[in-house]
This record gives sequence, C-alpha cells and structure tokens, in this order.
Amino acid sequence: MKSTSGNAGGAQKKKMHGYVGFSNYPNQIHRRSVKNGFNFTLMVVGESGIGKSTLINTLFDSKIFSDREELPPNADPIKGVDITSMSADIQENGVKLRLTVVDTPGFGDSINNEDAWQPILENIESRFDAYLAQENRVNRSKISDNRIDAVIYFVKPTGHCLRAIDIEFMKRLHTKVNLVPIVAKADTLTAKELEQFKTKLLADINYHGIQIFKPVSDEFDDAETVADNRSILSKIPFAVIGSEKFVERPDGTSVRGRSYPWGIIEVESEEHNDFMKLRQMLLRTHMEELKDSTDIVLYENYRTQKLLSMGHVQDNGVFREYNPVVQIEEDRRAHEAKMNKMEGEMTAVFQQKVQEKESKLKQSEEELYARHKEMKTVLEKQRSELDEKKRRAEATVRPTTPMEQQTTKGKKKNIFSGF
Ligand code: GTP
Repeated sequence: MKSTSGNAGGAQKKKMHGYVGFSNYPNQIHRRSVKNGFNFTLMVVGESGIGKSTLINTLFDSKIFSDREELPPNADPIKGVDITSMSADIQENGVKLRLTVVDTPGFGDSINNEDAWQPILENIESRFDAYLAQENRVNRSKISDNRIDAVIYFVKPTGHCLRAIDIEFMKRLHTKVNLVPIVAKADTLTAKELEQFKTKLLADINYHGIQIFKPVSDEFDDAETVADNRSILSKIPFAVIGSEKFVERPDGTSVRGRSYPWGIIEVESEEHNDFMKLRQMLLRTHMEELKDSTDIVLYENYRTQKLLSMGHVQDNGVFREYNPVVQIEEDRRAHEAKMNKMEGEMTAVFQQKVQEKESKLKQSEEELYARHKEMKTVLEKQRSELDEKKRRAEATVRPTTPMEQQTTKGKKKNIFSGF
C-alpha cells in the first residue's frame, strides 16, 4: 500500500470538509467535571491569631472554620504542631466543590520553633505516600486524592524582612507543595510600609532560592489570560485582609470589611488590599494549574525519588505491549535469578560457618598440645630431680666388705638362736 504520509513518524495537518463532532470534546469534559465535582485541598500555616480562620471563611464565603473554643486562662498552650483537617461540600452555580482545609495549630507558637516545619512536611509526604500506595494497587478504580494542592503561608506583618522560621519553612517545603505566601492583616501597615515590605519579602524569597507558586503564560494563552496572569503576578506576595463581618459604607451599602475610627477597609476592594487577586488565583483561574502542578511536578518528583530509593530502575520509557507468555518467562527468569542469589548467599554463609568451626577446633587442638607439652616438661623435671636424689642417696651409703657381711650374718644367727 502506498503511504499517504510524506512525513514519516510525524502527523500531517489535514483540511476537513465538514463537521464531524470532535470539537465538542471540551464540552463533554466540562459536563463530566460538573457532574463529578472537584476536590481541592488547601493547607494554612501561620502562628496562632494571625487570621487563618477568618481568611478561609472569607475566601469561601462560608463558615468553614467554626469559632474555636476559648482555652481556659490556666490551660497549657499547645505543645508542638498539631494537624487537623476539615472538609466541606460547597456549591456554586451547580458546580460542586469538596473543599478540605488542613490547619496547623501550634506552628510558630513555641519558644523554640526550629523544627516547626517538620510535622507539616511529614504530613505532606505521608499524603504522597498514601497516593502512591493506592496507585500501586491492583484495583485502582477508587483512588482518594488527599494531596495538598496549595499551602497558604501567613507572613506576620512586621514590616521588616522574612524571619528565620519563615525562611526555614519555605525552604523545606517548596519542592513538595505549591507555596502561596501572603502578608496577613495587611491593614496593620500603611500603604507605603506594605509596598516596601512586599519588595523585601520578594528579595528574600529570591535570595534563598525559594520557589513560590506563580502564574505563567505560554504561547497558547489568549491575550486576556496573559493580562490576567500579569496582573496577578504584579501583586505577589499578596497582602490581604480578612473579615467575616459586614460594615456600612458612607453611601449606606454594606460590604465585607473592617471598621476603624478613621474609616472602613474593604476586603473586596483592590485598592485596599490583594484579597481579590488571591481569590482569583486560587479559585477562579488557577485551581486546575495548582492541582496539575501538584500532580505532574511535585508528586511526580517525589514519586521518582521514592521509587529510586527503593531500588526501582528506570525503564527508559520503552513501551511494550503486555504479552502473558513473555511476562511468565520474565517472571520465571526473575524467580530463577532470585533463587540462585539465595543459594549463593546460603552457600557463602555455610562456608563461613565451617571455616569458623575449623578454626575453633584448630585453636583448641593447639591449646591441648601446649598443655601436654607443659605437663611433659614438669614430669621430666620431677623425674630428673628424683634421679638426682637417688644418686645422692646411693653415694652416701658406702658398700660393705664380704667379711663384714659375714659378721652381720653371724650376729643375726645369734639373735635368733636365743628363741
Ligand atoms: P488560631 O485559630 O488561634 O490559629 O488563629 P487564626 O490564625 O485562625 O486567627 P483568626 O482568624 O481566629 O483571627 C484572630 C483575630 O484576628 C480575630 O480577632 C480576627 O478578627 C482578627 N483578624 C483576622 N483577620 C484580620 C485582618 O485581616 N486584619 C485585622 N486587623 N485583624 C484580623
């Protein structure tokens, strides 16, 4: 058959003459997504009282965090970081969102906060591990995804620069999660102070090589998306205020905000703070990108490192069709290799044991020989001493003449004749 392609291996652009229907595919995805709903898991990190609950409730316009029970005045403060999570099903225009917010009470509240990042990192990694374990199951029809899609890190509005705890936390976590640092309680700084503070924070983040989540445009983005991304980028790190209360404006309308003797500050005013940009990025324009970045970049890196550390080897991407006969043969060979390896190991252990036994026997034989030699020396010494004694005794006893012997005999006779 004659090839219709002049571009071996590549795809050719073909002009269509009518409507066949595949351009409706995005709508199919849209329908399925709306039907199934979405999951989004957000973690909030920052010291106690910095405004985490207020901001989350403001962001989702719902009471996600209920009022915390006041601790009795003499109660012990929380020791270390605790990790709690709460989920809520929320709906907007028929689209369902299963939102999970993971809170980290106790972070930054101890006298020594050196290792405050550790339980949080462990929690993020354990979620990756749980996902990896599910992926490796035979039946993967129901994988529950509890991976963290973004961490909102609350920076204290000090007006100075990043503190050691902020730097340590972000450096430890930036390769594991999408970091969204924000300046909390932005209304406590003047506009000028805030601008300078944001510049310092960005400089510190760059200096320490910390990766934070930033929207990026590519060649496929339309002009509107590019402009949106640019305007979000210009506000990073977002300086936000949160409020669950509504206040009255001079014109009588009610808005979400905070009231001061000098006037009101509106949460949803872009002139007053960056809350709108934060919400736009997290919920309106970049939720899917955050999820993709978690799945394709952060989790994928973690997974690769984990599998390599467990001794898995990269298959260089060669795809082979599943063939049961080939598979059985490969399994058999792998089993045989395993058995050979085990046999070799057992033989080595056996030989080592035999060698140990032999050297022990040789050692006791040498010990016995040495004892025997020692005893022989002692006995020879005793014998020569006795010989010497005998020789000396014989020398002191003079030999008698035959005459004397005769006299002695006669005397003996006389003695016995008296009886
Ligand atoms: P924990 O529950 O202890 O972890 O505190 P949290 O970080 O959740 O703080 P929370 O939201 O409970 O706010 C603590 C106090 O700060 C409350 O009185 C809030 O009204 C106030 N607050 C929250 N957000 C802001 C803000 O943007 N500006 C100002 N000035 N106060 C705020």
